[in-house]
Amino acid sequence: MRVPSPTRHLDSTRPLATQLSIGAARQGIPTSADMLLGYSSHHIFVGQRARCTVKDSTPRQLLMRSWRRQMLTRANPTQGADREGEDLSRERREKVQQTALFTSFWRDLDQRVSKFPICMDVPAVAILDEFLAPDVRAMLEASPNLATFVDILAVRTRFIDDLITSSPPQQLVLIGAGMDTRAYRLACPCTRIFEIDSTGSLEEKQRCLIDAGHSLTCGELIIVGEDVRDAARVEQALLSNGFQMGQATTWIFEGILEYLPQATHPALFAMAASMSSSSGSLLIAQVLEPEINDNFLVEHDRATLPYEALYFASTAEASVQSSGWGDTYIWRSEDLYTIYPNALGRTLPPGFTILTAKMIDAS
Ligand SMILES: C[S@@+](CC[C@H](N)C(=O)[O-])C[C@H]1O[C@@H](n2cnc3c(N)ncnc32)[C@H](O)[C@@H]1O
Repeated sequence: MRVPSPTRHLDSTRPLATQLSIGAARQGIPTSADMLLGYSSHHIFVGQRARCTVKDSTPRQLLMRSWRRQMLTRANPTQGADREGEDLSRERREKVQQTALFTSFWRDLDQRVSKFPICMDVPAVAILDEFLAPDVRAMLEASPNLATFVDILAVRTRFIDDLITSSPPQQLVLIGAGMDTRAYRLACPCTRIFEIDSTGSLEEKQRCLIDAGHSLTCGELIIVGEDVRDAARVEQALLSNGFQMGQATTWIFEGILEYLPQATHPALFAMAASMSSSSGSLLIAQVLEPEINDNFLVEHDRATLPYEALYFASTAEASVQSSGWGDTYIWRSEDLYTIYPNALGRTLPPGFTILTAKMIDAS
């Protein structure tokens, strides 16, 4: 069902979440052993009420070393160390994993350079200090689109943060969590956060943040190493790591859909629907439309952002709706400028959208 008008949502006297009218059969996606390399589905780390305990440490050192190598690889792998013998899929995976540092870098810049910062990712400082290689930082700073990337990250982060904190869900699932630090900075003490990404990168992030003195601000953090192109495996991994069916759950697809084959998206939306409570569950997805590639990204950015699937937000919306989600809305720049007056003067390129949907109780 289409939400009639954005004006219905944009009442500055009410909290954002209350303004939002938001709230398949599972296809088996074949995955080759090669593509799964780097995503193991065991539960590796648990934080409970701001105290963290490391579990399953057997493969830990190996994965940490492997991931550290990946993260410190040059942004353009062809200029890096000898690539002989390494196949294209591995190279692509490393490039995609490294984008987690890019988004962390752009979020951090907002708090450091913007006149009116709207996104305060304080823990990002420790992550960037440890993992962002100087040449990668220089490459990011050289983009003619640097200011726009900062604006995109600031607005989308703040938008999603506000949705979470104004009505904290029982469970929050971050698909392709990367260097997301919400578990360490959002006040949601009753929320269990599931981060899904490659095992090594998530584990390295936690180690880094704890070393830097950060502690959890959520109820519990559960890290799940899994390849999110395979929805059935993700579902299994979540269930075997303590995901509770029937609880109000918020699903975040932020900076991830554009790196996955489009064919994998419907099964992920359907999985989220089937695992969510019939009311109080939300889906939030950034959708980058093709024009962002055509009109905004310059060659410099395309070389470092290995996008796979760009399509129209209306297509994503239809897929979300047919998966069982309702009350969908596509947020465009004009909506977001209105919600955040401090975003005025910022630049959100055409084709940047955020799709929201909620689980509707059919009974
Ligand atoms: C651009 S980063 C976004 C990270 C985070 N959501 C954010 O907004 O900062 C993309 C992330 O998706 C993860 N990713 C990409 N493909 C994946 C896959 N098939 N399975 C699991 N994670 C994946 C990468 O490892 C990376 O951390």
